[in-house]
Parts: sequence; structure tokens; C-alpha cells
Amino acid sequence: MCDPAEHQKTTHLRHPRLTISLLHSSVCLTSVYLKSLRELWAILAHSRSFLQPCCFVCITTNITMLFRNSVRASSRVLLRPQAARMAPASALHTTRILSNAHDKKTPLAAGSFARTDDSITVEYPEDHELPSSVPVQGRGGLHMKRTLASFSLEGKVGVVTGGARGLGLVMGQGMVISGANLAIVDMNKEEAEKQAAELVEVFRKENPGSARVPKVTAHYADVSDADSVQGCISSIIAEHGKIDSLVTSAGFTENFDAINYPIDRMRKLWNVNVDGTYLFAITVAKHLMERKAPGSMVFIGSMSGSIVNIPQPQAPYNAAKAAVRHMAASLAVEWAHAGIRVNCISPGYMLTALTEKILDDNPELKKQWTSLIPQGKMGQPVDLMGPVTFLLSDASQYVTGADLRVDGGYTVT
Ligand SMILES: NC(=O)c1ccc[n+]([C@@H]2O[C@H](COP(=O)([O-])OP(=O)(O)OC[C@H]3O[C@@H](n4cnc5c(N)ncnc54)[C@H](O)[C@@H]3O)[C@@H](O)[C@H]2O)c1
Repeated sequence: MCDPAEHQKTTHLRHPRLTISLLHSSVCLTSVYLKSLRELWAILAHSRSFLQPCCFVCITTNITMLFRNSVRASSRVLLRPQAARMAPASALHTTRILSNAHDKKTPLAAGSFARTDDSITVEYPEDHELPSSVPVQGRGGLHMKRTLASFSLEGKVGVVTGGARGLGLVMGQGMVISGANLAIVDMNKEEAEKQAAELVEVFRKENPGSARVPKVTAHYADVSDADSVQGCISSIIAEHGKIDSLVTSAGFTENFDAINYPIDRMRKLWNVNVDGTYLFAITVAKHLMERKAPGSMVFIGSMSGSIVNIPQPQAPYNAAKAAVRHMAASLAVEWAHAGIRVNCISPGYMLTALTEKILDDNPELKKQWTSLIPQGKMGQPVDLMGPVTFLLSDASQYVTGADLRVDGGYTVT
């Protein structure tokens, strides 16, 4: 037989208009209660003189309870987080948003909007399921606008890990546009090779007849494996002769509540995000010190290293990104004597091909995220081109150990 409570819940989810009218009714009900309460209090105040004191207390307690329950009932409808109200994701198998799990566990209370929702689970997709990124068009042509020469990366060789896709690819392109040669490092070498060729192609198209075409190469590495990292750095030096700058963008996030987080997945997440950053940084620093050359590194952290995202639970990722941020500060101090600067960029919610796919399937989650961003929109990967170029260039000579948040103001509210 159909459970009426369950039926009402699913009807809510399927019919937004019905949900709005129910919200409206609950608000009206509350105001009717408030009006009747005011009248009741007035009658009670009059009758106080002839009622027994215990009788008076009993009546007022019952009225107060009635009022509290009615307000709770209506606010429960109003305050239920959007993620808990949204329909389950259907297209991407890696996203599971169990819309009614919250209702079954605990009734919502004050603070609901500032809490994580254990029913949200998002697994990082398998490599073959990841969408390909498209290089940015129309940003790389010659221009005659005046700008500081110190922003140029001309003559430098940059490395970007996780550079075959998403933010890494766009930041790598920003380095190429700013004059650097580039080594794209990724576990997906095929995609890295394809994108290396694309970057050169876009550059040629936007700079016809250019005397100098940047050298962009693709290299395999599993950033979490020390031998793989060492082999990769050797292959980059063999092709480019040196390395001046490093951007560590290889990393990923997943969503499970902490108690049910599969331990092997948690270890993998820390291996890639934390160990991977560390291994690349120390191997490049060793090379720079051997050359007695200055260098600049940018670790890609996340605003999650400073705040706790809601509603999706992701404690290990948040902790990993906090580690990345503080690793940048610690290595900045340790390597300052060698002229090696280390900074962190902490992006907020960025619209990459991957996040776009997840959010297309869950428009309510996107609404909730953007409602928390002062600029009222998610960032575009291209928004990172300027910040990364600044931190790798001589324009930021005196900036080291910093965390540059690129988050539309999310973390200052
Ligand atoms: N997208 C966002 O909204 C966002 C926000 C804040 C921070 N970040 C961080 O930015 C970085 C890039 O994120 P993205 O959205 O571009 O991700 P993405 O999944 O689009 O790209 C990550 C790339 O890293 C590669 N990679 C993964 N594991 C690897 C490994 N072990 N060795 C080598 N390469 C590996 C993948 O093949 C992929 O090409 C990550 O560190 C992420 O945590 C992303």
C-alpha cells in the first residue's frame, strides 16, 4: 500500500508548483495561528483573575506547544535544503543524490542550511568517462595594449601536472600565450598529446606568420608515484633542456560522508592531491637547485582548504587541500634561500567540462552553490589564466607562501 507521507514527498519533488502552493499554505497557516494566539492571550489575560494559577499555567503551556509545533511544521517545509529537495540525478552514474534520505534520518532543525548532507555521493568518474576539454580561443593573438613586461613568461619552460584537461589545460594555455614553452603532464598521455597539438594549432591560427611558435610536449606520469615522477621530469629536461616553473593541477574530489568513505578511495585522493604535489615540487626544486636557477611554483589547492563546502560532504578532500595550501607556505620558507617561490591558488567553484556535466544533471545543486557566491556565478577556467601567469612571472617577485583565492568572494562571506 502507498505510504501517504512518502507519496506526499515524491509528489512535492515532481510538481514544483504544488510545492510552492504547499509552502504558501504553510505560511498562511502560521499567520492564522499567530492571529488566533494573540486573541487567546488577550482572553487569558482577562480570565487570569478567576482561574486557578495551576490551571492558567497548564493552558498557557498547551498553547505555547501548539504554536511551537505549527511553526516547526511550516519551517520544516521551508528550510529543507535544496539538495535534499532535488530530483535524483539520472544521467551520470557517478552522481547519486538521494533526495529523501535526509527526511528519514533526522528532522531538520536550525542550522540546516549550514550543514552537509550525507545523502550526497559523487564518485570521480573512470578515465574513459571524463569529457575532453576544448582549448580557449581568441585570447592568444598579438596585441598592442600596454602592459608590464614583467608579466611575460618569454624564455621560460613551464610544467603543468593534470594538464590534459580542465583547469590544468587552461592554465597551461595561459602560460603558452604568455610566452613560455610547456610540458603537459598527465596520467592520460593520449589526451595530453592531443591537447599539446591543439595548443600549438590554436597559437598558429591566432598568430599567423609568428617567427616563434611555442614548443608544447606531452608526458606521462602518475603524480602519486615517486619513480614515475622522476622518470617524467627526466623526459621533460631531455626535451626542453630545463624547467623554470611548475603548476600542480593533478587532483580530484569525491563526495562520501566521512563514516562511509571507502578507505582505499580516501588514500588515493590524498596520494594524488597531497603526495603528488609534494613529489613534483621536490623533484623540480632539486633540478632548480642543481642549476642554481630561480623558479616559481604554483600549487592548485581549493577554497575547500579554508572552508567547508555545503551541502556535499568531502572531509578528506577539504583536509587534503588544506595540506596543499600549508605545504606551499612551508616550502616557500624552506626554499626562499634558493630563489624558489612557492604559492598556492585556491579556486572556488569552477565550470569545467566535468563540473558542468554533474551540475547539468543537478540544477538545484548549482543554484545552491551560486547562491553562496557574492559574484553570483561560478568561475570560468579562463579566470585562472591571469592569476597563474602573475604568480609564475617576475611581476610577483616578492610574493611567496601566499594563497591566492580565485572564488568570486565565496570565502570572505
Ligand atoms: N573544478 C573545480 O571547480 C575546482 C575547484 C577548486 C579546485 N580544483 C582543483 O583543481 C585541480 C584540477 O581540477 P579539474 O576540475 O581541472 O579536474 P579534471 O578532472 O578536469 O582534470 C584533472 C586532470 O588530472 C589528471 N590526473 C588525475 N590523477 C592523476 C595522477 N595520479 N597523475 C597524473 N595526472 C592525474 C586527470 O587525468 C585529469 O586530466 C584539482 O586539483 C582540483 O582539486 C578544481
